[in-house]
Amino acid sequence: MTEAVRLEIRGEIALIKVNNPPVNALGQVVREGLLNAFQRAEADQQVRAVVLVCEGNTFIAGADIKEFGKPPQAPSLPEVIEVIEGCSKPSVAVIHGTALGGGLEVALGCHYRIARRDAKVGLPEVKLGLLPGAGGTQRLPRLAGVEKALDMIVSGTPISAAEAVEHNIVDELFDGDLVDAGLGYARRMVEENRAPRRTGEQTQGLEGADNEALIRAKHAEVAKRMPGLFSPLRCIAAVEAATQLPLAEGLKRERELFAECLNSPQRGALVHSFFAERQAGKINDLPSDTKPRSIKTAAVIGGGTMGVGIALSFANAGVPVKLLEINKEALQRGLQRARDTYAASVKRGSLTEDAMEQRLALITGVTDYGALADADVVVEAVFEEMGVKQQVFEQLDAVCKPGAILASNTSSLDLDAIAAFTKRPEDVVGLHFFSPANVMRLLEVVRGEKTSNEVLATAMAIGKQLKKVSVVVGVCDGFVGNRMVFQYGREAEFLLEEGATPQQVDGALRNFGMAMGPFAMRDLSGLDIGQAIRKRQRATLPAHLDFPTVSDKLCAAGMLGQKTGAGYYRYEPGNRTPLENPELGPMLEAASREKGIERKALDEQYIVERCIFALVNEGAKILEEGIAQRSSDIDVIYLNGYGFPAFRGGPMFYADSVGLDTVLARVKELYSRCGDWWKPAPLLEKLAAEGRTFTEWQAGR
Ligand code: 3HC
Ligand code: NAI
Repeated sequence: MTEAVRLEIRGEIALIKVNNPPVNALGQVVREGLLNAFQRAEADQQVRAVVLVCEGNTFIAGADIKEFGKPPQAPSLPEVIEVIEGCSKPSVAVIHGTALGGGLEVALGCHYRIARRDAKVGLPEVKLGLLPGAGGTQRLPRLAGVEKALDMIVSGTPISAAEAVEHNIVDELFDGDLVDAGLGYARRMVEENRAPRRTGEQTQGLEGADNEALIRAKHAEVAKRMPGLFSPLRCIAAVEAATQLPLAEGLKRERELFAECLNSPQRGALVHSFFAERQAGKINDLPSDTKPRSIKTAAVIGGGTMGVGIALSFANAGVPVKLLEINKEALQRGLQRARDTYAASVKRGSLTEDAMEQRLALITGVTDYGALADADVVVEAVFEEMGVKQQVFEQLDAVCKPGAILASNTSSLDLDAIAAFTKRPEDVVGLHFFSPANVMRLLEVVRGEKTSNEVLATAMAIGKQLKKVSVVVGVCDGFVGNRMVFQYGREAEFLLEEGATPQQVDGALRNFGMAMGPFAMRDLSGLDIGQAIRKRQRATLPAHLDFPTVSDKLCAAGMLGQKTGAGYYRYEPGNRTPLENPELGPMLEAASREKGIERKALDEQYIVERCIFALVNEGAKILEEGIAQRSSDIDVIYLNGYGFPAFRGGPMFYADSVGLDTVLARVKELYSRCGDWWKPAPLLEKLAAEGRTFTEWQAGR
């Protein structure tokens, strides 16, 4: 018996306790411990029922993800669960926190399940490119039915304990102490002389519905909503096996399908994404005793697109927030926009009227800076002009209490210059939200030259409070995400000059897995934003650099994207479907002609490499300059802010998987043909020469 699993005999009841912080994952010691504990409970004549309970914050949260890809160590989880299910004494799993993946599979191996009212259960393996590989695809449909099982397994989304009761996954809810609840239930099992009720022997979930039709429908849904993903189709195949085969054969089929997923490159990429997200929250050089300041009240300056979204984010997190605008009319527009956004959620059914009113009550409109004196954090989201930022920060410096965090949402201005407008640059930090700020998970936390450790830690804590994925970045033009996307967008536009259409470029990148093509994206955010950036870059970057011109031509014709009804595409009023813009063709021809380029058909791989490797080369420069702490942080930014496909792990991980020597060879080709934009990043050259990856470089730093 290991420390991670303990067995206590309490009269006629065997109490098995798992204790493997932080989330009681099913590493080898836990599997072995569970096996021994159930075998000892079985062998003990005195024991008449078994309780399985976990210490810490949660029930078992799944297999130990760190073990994937390593040689398997006995006992395997399916073997352990076979012993648990086969036990001749009735057992009950006592669920609190989350029973996820292998954790729920262990619970399904137990004969009964009770859950604390606030618990959740789920099979999230699909999010890691896997399927439940320890009986989940065979046992869950037997209890919950094929429809619910397919929903849970293919989406990976956990459900509440109450919903789990509705679907026969959990028998009873309880409040209060775990051990008391478990022992109480076990005593009842003994009193009632209950026999083991093995999930594998149940059939009610498999009966009474047209399972074939449900499976066909799920296939159609996956083809439409999850194109390119490897594991969802195998999840469906495994559940289908449960409807056709006896348990033992179904389990065997599940195992085969699990192995296919385990060996797929998508699993590697998705597991990378999981750990990358958790790693991003850690700041390498921050002393571990750095304490964040407490944030109880917030303020936002500017009630435009971003300011309102940021205010909604605070209200959603239950933090009272003041929204300051330049005058009453602008303020009214901002507050109305906040109400309209919530009203749309109420209409969609994702928010109740009551919740809307509660959240709106947290947002107070003001026009006077004096009202911000008590704010713990102020986020500025006014026009992107240094003069306006200066006015705002000077006023904030004058009115805000000592210790208030002064944050800017600037997307491209120099944060250090903004900090210098105050007498407390150590309290200034960038909080770069993404549009729409109340929806997008990404938050770039910009660390200025003088930002104090405490303020940085507080900024990360604010991100957590707002349920964002926060990544620390340094000061440079565009920080990490936009600096890289500029390279990507520029190359996409050069492709138009070489002969492609927006439809071809967007299509190729969507087939690669991007949520949206670059031109549809530009039409959405407005072409004038890019134009302002290009204008600034033309003035500051070396004169010999070539800039594409199609976007300028569209702007000159007043075609700024969706908001003007046309851009790279044309839009019918009130409809966001991109249609061909007949006025674009002549502009493309002219752009090519002016540069003496003969237009020709481009193949899809070339389109993808040109755009994605532009991201990678810039990413390598960013890493070398220390603007990002880790290559995986860049991946997190692209996965959460730019619609990069999770199954490719982010641009830097993707480059690693292609091979940095291959990436460098393409970059060099483009450098010799297209000039200085493609100058290879020294770090990329170094790693390619050494045969190493960004991931290995990051680990060795
Ligand atoms: N294995 C190994 N480590 C894990 C883990 C797991 N299953 N789940 C979480 N961790 C680690 C995290 O990496 C993190 O480590 P760190 O502190 O060193 O960064 C730590 O536990 C805490 O995790 P979070 O920061 O995510 O903590 P939260 O409290 O926010 O969330 C959670 C807890 C909801 C359990 C979340 O961690 C989670 O969703 N975990 C993954 C669950 C999962 O995917 N389970 C299925 C695994 S696959 C499987 O079971 C296969 C089976 O079918 C055979
Ligand atoms: P916007 O033009 O929609 O809103 C700006 C608002 O600020 C206007 O309502 C204006 O009345 C108000 N304002 C101007 N001066 C003010 C002052 N002195 N005091 C109070 N209010 C003032 O602009 P948007 O798009 O919301 O951008 C705001 C900031 O966020 C900019 O710095 C921008 O670069 C940044 N940003 C924008 C993103 C986007 O996608 N729009 C994404 C991320 C950051």
